[in-house]
Amino acid sequence: MNQIPQRKITVVGAGFVGSTCAQLAASKELAREVVLIDILEGRPQGIALDLNQMAAVEGTGARVIGTNDPADTWGSDVFIVTAGKPRTPGMSRSDLLETNGRVITAVADYIRAGSPDAVVIVVTNPLDIMVTLMRAKLGFPAKRVIGMAGVLDSARFCWFIAEETGTSVQDVDAMVLGAHGDSMVPMPQYCTVNGVSVLDLVPAAKVDAMADRTRGGGGEIVKLLKTGSAWYAPAAASVAMAASILNDQRRMLPCACLLNGEFGFEGLYMGVPAILGANGVERIVELPLSAESRAQMQKTAGAILSDVDALRDMGLL
Ligand code: LAC
Repeated sequence: MNQIPQRKITVVGAGFVGSTCAQLAASKELAREVVLIDILEGRPQGIALDLNQMAAVEGTGARVIGTNDPADTWGSDVFIVTAGKPRTPGMSRSDLLETNGRVITAVADYIRAGSPDAVVIVVTNPLDIMVTLMRAKLGFPAKRVIGMAGVLDSARFCWFIAEETGTSVQDVDAMVLGAHGDSMVPMPQYCTVNGVSVLDLVPAAKVDAMADRTRGGGGEIVKLLKTGSAWYAPAAASVAMAASILNDQRRMLPCACLLNGEFGFEGLYMGVPAILGANGVERIVELPLSAESRAQMQKTAGAILSDVDALRDMGLL
């Protein structure tokens, strides 16, 4: 059997996104221990049993621990925080501000107490605001508190490009920056099929339509499912970020990072390309922006700031 690194990864929230994160982290043997914690009694324990029994068939050796006790998370190297309510049809991500803000506050308390050196990946919506809140409550260096969204939004854009061009999605690279919401900023100028710009392969009007479909990509799935939101791609995106950190892969992935002058913004969490390694965000990569992209980044920053203000008005921040 392969040697599994002696590390611990905790997934908070045993809903569809969280349990799929635990499954992927265990099957990739990212850590010796994968802790799955939820406030619901029995659910994380049941999923852990199922995943450990799956490991017997798959021949993998990471151990999944299902729990309701925050003490079981202590000493984690990485957290993936998915806890909170998902959207239902007709809801915007911002409608979840208050409910999920309370959840993040409670989770931050035990991360700070028991895992002061962890890198924390926030997945809970509304993403840009929940990662802002998590950082404020933890007081960790910003490079260790990161939001997952750009990898997911880029994956959606990738799939639409693959479908449109009739190419394998594994050859497609796409980039989406800004907020994880309707104001997100798809960057067609940085989208390629095996190095060939999508702008050379697809008429501009079609590229614009795909960018629009990407902006509404989460909502499209919510509408189809009727009872919740997407989970496979969100979980895969979160685990890809965790793997880059735990294995010090230094992948350049778009994620929500605290900006300190980059792209002309200060003190604001927003989706930008970042190199993820052992220390969390090793570096934010600044890109030249067209006038149009710059205007879109201003707009997306405004949307994030107005939600941050709303959270402050609720007394949560
Ligand atoms: C989505 C949710 C996770 O975009 O925000 O599917």
